[in-house]
Amino acid sequence: MNKHIITLSFLITSFVVFSQHKTIDQKVDELLSQMTLEEKVGQLNQYTGDWTATGPITINPNKQEEIKKGQIGSMLNILGTKYTRQYQELAMQSRLKIPLLFGQDVVHGYKTTFPIPLAEAASWDLEAMELSARIAAIEASASGIHWTFAPMVDISRDPRWGRVMEGAGEDTYLGSQIAYARVKGFQGEKLGNVNSVMATAKHFVAYGAAVGGRDYNSVDMSERMLWETYLPPFKATIDAGVATFMNSFNDLNGIPATGNAYLQREILKGKWNYSGFVVSDWGSIGEMVNHGYAENSKEAAFLALTAGSDMDMESSSYIKNLVVLVKENRVPVSLIDDAVRRILHKKFELGLFDDPYKFSNPAREKEALNNPEHTKAAREIAAKSIVLLKNENKILPLSKNIKTIAFIGPMVKPLRANHGFWAVELKEIDSTYIVSQWKGLVNKVGKNTKLLYAKGSDINSQNKEGFAEAVSIANQADVVIMSVGESWNMSGEAKSRSNIHLPGVQEELIKVIQATGKPLVVLINAGRPLVFDWTADHTPAILYTWWLGSESGNAIADVLFGDYNPSGKLPMTFPRNEGQIPIYYNYFNTGRPAQNETATNYVSAYIDLKNSPKFPFGYGLSYTTFQYSDLKLSSQKINSSEKIEVTVNITNTGKIFGEEVVQLYLRDKVGSVVRPVKELKDFQKVKLRAGETKTLNFTIDKEKLSFFNDKLEWVAEPGDFEVMIGASSADIRLRSDFELIK
Ligand code: NOJ
Repeated sequence: MNKHIITLSFLITSFVVFSQHKTIDQKVDELLSQMTLEEKVGQLNQYTGDWTATGPITINPNKQEEIKKGQIGSMLNILGTKYTRQYQELAMQSRLKIPLLFGQDVVHGYKTTFPIPLAEAASWDLEAMELSARIAAIEASASGIHWTFAPMVDISRDPRWGRVMEGAGEDTYLGSQIAYARVKGFQGEKLGNVNSVMATAKHFVAYGAAVGGRDYNSVDMSERMLWETYLPPFKATIDAGVATFMNSFNDLNGIPATGNAYLQREILKGKWNYSGFVVSDWGSIGEMVNHGYAENSKEAAFLALTAGSDMDMESSSYIKNLVVLVKENRVPVSLIDDAVRRILHKKFELGLFDDPYKFSNPAREKEALNNPEHTKAAREIAAKSIVLLKNENKILPLSKNIKTIAFIGPMVKPLRANHGFWAVELKEIDSTYIVSQWKGLVNKVGKNTKLLYAKGSDINSQNKEGFAEAVSIANQADVVIMSVGESWNMSGEAKSRSNIHLPGVQEELIKVIQATGKPLVVLINAGRPLVFDWTADHTPAILYTWWLGSESGNAIADVLFGDYNPSGKLPMTFPRNEGQIPIYYNYFNTGRPAQNETATNYVSAYIDLKNSPKFPFGYGLSYTTFQYSDLKLSSQKINSSEKIEVTVNITNTGKIFGEEVVQLYLRDKVGSVVRPVKELKDFQKVKLRAGETKTLNFTIDKEKLSFFNDKLEWVAEPGDFEVMIGASSADIRLRSDFELIK
């Protein structure tokens, strides 16, 4: 063959190979160049399906026709292979056949439900949390879902806010670690795998600091607080590769987050160079009119797009106004292109242009939604999330040979109550699969144990008619277990409570049962820290069982009878009463700190209440005990390029296997701005056999010593520091000092 022919055929082959291997950016540009302005704006528009609403709804009856015209880029609340396929078929009738994205709130599981995120955070087990997100993704993606609106990474110090159930609690360090793990779990090895879903970091930002704990309320906070406490978990999701962000309903210092260019353009897409896209929260673009920030829906569309909100969930402001705004030269088409590019990029990454039905495979759906391994994991993770608050006289664990157990309370038998707020309502699939607490107990005890049941009271009413029956069965029993708390819809979105005491007459029911003198174990099921002062002071054994999901009953029974030794630690401070809120462990000392909690005159204290919480952040007991010893620092003096290696010995001093969450806190003793009395900077969950000792290693580096100074610079200032190793934020077992020098 002549040389020229060889060169020519080489060039042709290279060209063919090259054009087959276009980068996603090239493919996006090519598609974008074929799109009309109307089609571009269509990509920025998201609507809900008809049968599940997760916000105030105005059903759009024309959406099927609009999909065919390319006027909708994404849908939420369309579930299952059958329906996602039906909707995708409509998109395939549009001129450019751009596939729809299907989003869903897969927050704590899909068919298999896991503990609510706050409960899982109590496990302090990052692998477990990654696994539950992984399983949720496997199930949801097999059911046609491309995208979950999770994790919620909002820090909150206010248990009145109903959405604390959906986050990781009050602490920025713990919250950031969990945020990272959850994104990894949802997105799996890489987007584009058939069992990965896109994750969403939400709600950007400061939603958890709503004034008064009232959902959707305003937020006013300093820049330093924003950077130090509320932004880091979001940054952690970017480090984990999160595909999307959702903005929040609140205004931040007077500017709604949805229309906030500082947050979305300057920080997120600027400083953090984020390349994913931002979806608004439900209707939040239109709601800028109610905020008094936009005059009408057209101005709201203008403000949101220019501020960096790429997709409009449910408000129709974009689809109604953006074309006109471009034609009037108010919105440059380059801004529309940027938003569309970000969204198309994700559709290509997911592989939807190669196969729009890739995630809608009924055989895979059937298999994934009936996997016993998922159930097993749900049970294990639920057990790990339970926190043992009290265990006087070692009442727990219970013996499996007890003759008669009375199981009393409104949370014993209901199913949905344990599922948790964001359990997905699956059409045509049995979503009521859940092991009730009663069933869990029946499964656990042997034939020789007699079980008695009385409801005693409702969850939330004043009716005491059931008390007598409850007392009567308690009197017949050797041990009484009571299960009380909040129902699934008392914490969650729009479920703020001004009074976070145990609802209804449940605490009165506990009082009358306690008066029988029988050994008593109380289970408290809730989506938030509750106030139950009397119970905490007078009953001998309390397990905080949150809402634990499908395997609630089995997991609770595992812990009650010692098949799992509880290892959970509280991810939020439990107040003595609502007057202490906001309450958190990493407070400032003030100029007049109270000594020993005594409210002598002129100190920072209440005259009618202690400052300390009922149960502190990081607190939780075990059926065994742990001793902390031999704290050693590799050096007592470092400069900022050096590190300190910290070692500490932990011994299981009891008679059974157990796990301990060993927490490392730091205090910067004097700073150019006031620093908290302590801050969590590391932790390890360690497994120990009876009598076993392990040495744990931690590293302290400049990063862990840094904070934002008054110029918002991230600095580690020379001076003295204290390192504290504890079993909770209030149970510091070992301390040492060191100095940072220039
Ligand atoms: C409103 C909630 O704030 C958000 O978290 C959720 O993802 C959307 N509704 C969609 O359901």
